[in-house]
Amino acid sequence: MSEDLQIARGTKAEQYAALLPQIRALMEGERDGVANLANVAAALKEQFGWLWVGFYLIKDGELVVGPFQGPVACTRIRKGRGVCGTSWAEDRTLIVPDVESFPGHIACSSLSRSEIVVPIRAGQTIIGVLDADSDKRNAFDEEDQRWLETLVAQLPGITDVG
Ligand code: SME
Repeated sequence: MSEDLQIARGTKAEQYAALLPQIRALMEGERDGVANLANVAAALKEQFGWLWVGFYLIKDGELVVGPFQGPVACTRIRKGRGVCGTSWAEDRTLIVPDVESFPGHIACSSLSRSEIVVPIRAGQTIIGVLDADSDKRNAFDEEDQRWLETLVAQLPGITDVG
């Protein structure tokens, strides 16, 4: 198949609805975790143009940066630290409409204004998080949460990258 992503216009729901089947097709038959996460990050970046989007994976008890698109980012985040570490510790998606109002937010980029972090589970265990940052405030809402939780639940073959 062509690897070109078809960029959807329209509402947020229409954009996610067009994107998720393409992401599934990109991952189909590929068991390599890094390869899959790299293409997911690239597809999300292409569709939505967020400042930063990518993955942190739990290794030796810390979140370690994985495949991503965007400016260079901090490499390691401890449990309970920042938005990512808090999402892990509290075992839930966090939407941060204004990063300046989130105590302990880790500013990997000074341009980041809002953020969403979605835990990735293998069974009941969190193995990492999907993190997206926007240079605009209030970029993420419950609709992003629903779609991104659906997306990470469909990630195959990423347990071998931890
Ligand atoms: N802002 C995140 C750190 C990761 S960067 O945004 C890529 C946090 O507070 O955990």
